[in-house]
Amino acid sequence: EKDGFAHYMQKEIYEQPRALRNTMTGRIDTTEQKVIFPTLQLSEASAKRVEKIYIVACGTAYHAGLIGKHVIERLAQIPVEVDVASEFRYRRPLFQPNTLTIAVSQSGETADTLAAMREAKRNGSAVLAITNVVGSSIARDADDVITTNAGPEIAVASTKAYTSQLIAFYLLGIYLAQAKGTLDADTRASLLQQLTALPDQVDHILQHADEIRHFAESIKDEQHLFFIGRGLDHAVSMEGSLKLKEISYIHSEAYAAGELKHGTLALIEEGTRVIALATQDELHEKMISNITEVKARGAKVLGITLDGHVELHRSVDDVCLIPQTDALFTSVLGVIPLQLISYYTSVALGNDVDRPRNLAKSVTVE
Ligand code: BG6
Repeated sequence: EKDGFAHYMQKEIYEQPRALRNTMTGRIDTTEQKVIFPTLQLSEASAKRVEKIYIVACGTAYHAGLIGKHVIERLAQIPVEVDVASEFRYRRPLFQPNTLTIAVSQSGETADTLAAMREAKRNGSAVLAITNVVGSSIARDADDVITTNAGPEIAVASTKAYTSQLIAFYLLGIYLAQAKGTLDADTRASLLQQLTALPDQVDHILQHADEIRHFAESIKDEQHLFFIGRGLDHAVSMEGSLKLKEISYIHSEAYAAGELKHGTLALIEEGTRVIALATQDELHEKMISNITEVKARGAKVLGITLDGHVELHRSVDDVCLIPQTDALFTSVLGVIPLQLISYYTSVALGNDVDRPRNLAKSVTVE
């Protein structure tokens, strides 16, 4: 059932090109160059009225929500707040009219997320679920559902569910932009073209997994390490750090690169391993200075950057290149090496990759 893969997690990592294609299937009108959601109640006319969005989720789905915020704000210019579901419920969030709440959940059964979306409903908000399980509790309770169609995910550490949630957010961001009239037709066509190229680009990265395995083996005895990045890369780093903690049990922290010097730089010493994600053109120079800051304190840095960013190569110890795409979409590519790093580190340590200690795939208690 693992199709020749050693673990479900590895199988699911390699299933991502197909999973991402499935998330897009039937949702792009290639003649009109538009996003369509045939089953959504939220028509473009009603989406036009949305003035505020809350995203609620837990764990990896929460990290997808952080990307969703950037994407929706950038494309559709609607303000978005992202909350950990277990916090949202008790913080007495303010609801204004025309608020849409988006609940993100692979399983569709996470009790905290279900409770948060019920709280939103009680306050008059429409609820849209992004889930991988048709007919799950969250799907049934929501007003609208976007299924991710990634296929069953068995490994506790989520991989293909996360990247397919990102695709769902890209599609939704473009759909909301159509409703709001915030994107011109050429930009939209170019985004859709780059979106559909992502599955092959993921496949390309997976073909170079061996290089990443060597890196993973080199960090397996570390006590702690850092992930740094800015903007979308910071959100992706949080997911990379979670993945590593979940299955290798090595502690790591994902830090907004510009915030390091306000405290955490004190923890960087000779030999500290740092993984720097630098896929955002606008922030590239800033990332290079942050990398220089940690290098000056003795850090050993792996840089993950876009093919062609020669300048960064010179400031890091190791480099991992990902293909070029629009700045909003690099997250799907940047997370692949991070998934592989955590996977191979866990394997090198002899851990139970698919069933890490103390964790469950789906948590149905609050
Ligand atoms: C956790 C799982 O308990 O629930 C995580 O261990 C997962 O991997 C989180 O991200 C949220 O799950 P779901 O199904 O709501 O996306």
